[in-house]
Amino acid sequence: MRSLGRFVLLLSVVLGAVAWGASSLFNRQARGWAERDLSMRSRLALEGARPALVEAGTNAARRVLEAIVRDERLMAAAVCTGDGAQVVAAGSLPAGVSCHALPGEARRPGPAGWDQSADGPAGAVHLTVLPVTEEAGGPALMLVHDMSFVDRRAETTRRYTFFAFALVGLVGAVAAAVAARLTWISWTVQLRRVLTAPFRAVEAIAAPRHFQPLLGDVRDLVSSLAAEEARAGSSWTPQRLRHVLRRDLGGESVIVVANREPYIHERGDDGQVKVVHPASGLVTALEPVMRACSGTWIAHGSGSADRDTVDGRDHVRVPPGEEAYDIRRVWLSREEEQGYYYGLANEGLWPLCHIAHAPPEFRASDWEQYRRVNSRFASAVAEEAKTPDPIVLVQDYHFALLPRMLRDLLPRATILTFWHIPWPNAERFGICPWEREVLDGLLGSSIVGFHTQAHCNNFLDSVDRYLESRIDRERHSVVVAGRETLVRPYPISIDWPSRWTSRAAPVAECRAEVRRRLGLAPDALLGVGVDRLDYTKGIDKRLLAVERLLERHPDYQGRFSFVQIAAPSRTIIESYRALNEQVEALATRINDRFARGSWRPVVMLRRHHEPAAIFELYRAADLCYVSSLHDGMNLVAKEFVAARDDLRGVLVLSRFTGAARELSEALIVNPYDIEGASTALATALSMPPDEQEERMRSMRVLVGELNVYRWAGKMLRDATRTRRRDRLASRLSSPGALPS
Ligand code: G6P
Repeated sequence: MRSLGRFVLLLSVVLGAVAWGASSLFNRQARGWAERDLSMRSRLALEGARPALVEAGTNAARRVLEAIVRDERLMAAAVCTGDGAQVVAAGSLPAGVSCHALPGEARRPGPAGWDQSADGPAGAVHLTVLPVTEEAGGPALMLVHDMSFVDRRAETTRRYTFFAFALVGLVGAVAAAVAARLTWISWTVQLRRVLTAPFRAVEAIAAPRHFQPLLGDVRDLVSSLAAEEARAGSSWTPQRLRHVLRRDLGGESVIVVANREPYIHERGDDGQVKVVHPASGLVTALEPVMRACSGTWIAHGSGSADRDTVDGRDHVRVPPGEEAYDIRRVWLSREEEQGYYYGLANEGLWPLCHIAHAPPEFRASDWEQYRRVNSRFASAVAEEAKTPDPIVLVQDYHFALLPRMLRDLLPRATILTFWHIPWPNAERFGICPWEREVLDGLLGSSIVGFHTQAHCNNFLDSVDRYLESRIDRERHSVVVAGRETLVRPYPISIDWPSRWTSRAAPVAECRAEVRRRLGLAPDALLGVGVDRLDYTKGIDKRLLAVERLLERHPDYQGRFSFVQIAAPSRTIIESYRALNEQVEALATRINDRFARGSWRPVVMLRRHHEPAAIFELYRAADLCYVSSLHDGMNLVAKEFVAARDDLRGVLVLSRFTGAARELSEALIVNPYDIEGASTALATALSMPPDEQEERMRSMRVLVGELNVYRWAGKMLRDATRTRRRDRLASRLSSPGALPS
């Protein structure tokens, strides 16, 4: 608006000057015309009056002069002698005008007469003096015309000219402003098209000539980025991730918000504090990213010795001994934990998002606690932020409301929210009584990420159905209240090479040690399953498949054992307790049915295991069976692949995991199909070593490339583009950029 005002002001000044110049010119011209006109009228009047003036007496001459001055513009007429005496006169001579006052050349005018305009006290007058006879020095007729009408006309002309120019100026200004705005809009649309098109499409965009220099710059930028990428190679490493964070995002660190902390301090029965790595795919994935990026991980301080190990700001440096980043612990009351974590998150949203046939429970009191805890974590992020535009990675279904709350606190923050579990279809999502609040909360993010495109589509469908918004299906984005959120798939993964694999003993040692510890024969065949004790993991179906294998292939009885690590999880929730009992009873039944001497077909290890022990088990196994009924990704499958640097072992993988889309060399099964799953287990146990190698090698290449640094790197790269676009957009729309 300011620039439009300046433009109109400048236009007014220029047009005012032109109007003034034009009206002065016109008035001068008009005055000249009027003088010529009056002079001509004077001559005509003399022609008519000459006989009376020459031949008649003074009285007759006066009558003629009186007749002449009846003309409204003639003020007076007089006959003067050559020496300035007045012979006869009619009308009223203005002050200062008389035969006597005429200059010498006017007293004796030549045949062409004498004319002059003069400004008197009563206005402008025009004098014409004409010889009455041809005789030199004879009488002359002086006619005095009122010229004030010329001034009046000039004034009117000036006014009209001014208004005409003002009107033209106004119309011109409006037209120019509209034209400028349209040009500006079209220019920014083209600019946006170029900046937001995939790099290769930039070439294909037909842009006007004046746009070419900018296009040239964009092309240079693209090729320099491409060259840099080529130099860096295609693989993602912690170094490359750090580089992207610092160079592209100008960030020295990130803030992660996740309910689960990566290191829990627990006080053991002996009173000693020990550090526990929780069983959580989220932690498995995020922890290496935080080591690479450094910063602060804000989480619920849930360990029994957590309060004893923080400083005055509730911070603790981790990993122990390496100290690469901070954990900031948030303390929750029992009511908060019950309502937010056990209630809304794990009895509401968790079953809502997983197709595992557990009905979700939604309680208003849980929702209240959920909102409260989200807001407490949002405040913690604002406290931890060192700049007004921090990079915040919000994790999982515990924090659906936090992105919007954070956006209100830190409008310029780059908020990347990742939903680690599936997103249901729109109809199922509508079961949630607070469906709008959840969607709107998430849309406070700059980017919302899911593991698969299918979950992104479900999310967009849910937004479409329950929220007023603009959805761009091509860009995969949602615009609410003028702010865009990208919705993108980022399949999560693990670090590569895995530090747990590089620290592990050789495979032969692991095989021998695990068999010895479990009391199995040194040549026993071993299957493993590693999960939290959760109904989405299909542990019961897995055990039924083992039972069916033994029924159909009795030769495996006494030779094959399945070890299931089942880490206790969410044990306060009734459905988890029931599952615990159900699985225990099932394992007992199968063991009772097939047990032979010291051999047991199922070994249930229902306690927490540290990663080193889990990796030892992976390396000792002949097969790993992941039987999730529904799983966003499932990182156990990828960990098993990472653990097998000997290229042996077979992965049997549920088709209902995100991982099944990537690891197609696994034996993909439907875990509900017990018959089919038992066939896959038999196929795995009899698979020739070279086929195992071939499958494992190809899966290792894939997991190595699609590692967790790539996951984080892709999100940060998309965030970089979003940041740049936001900055550009705010610069383009800022006052003074162009007429707005
Ligand atoms: C899933 C969730 C994570 C969670 C993990 C362990 O992987 O996506 O957010 O941390 O389960 O569950 P817990 O409730 O023990 O944190």
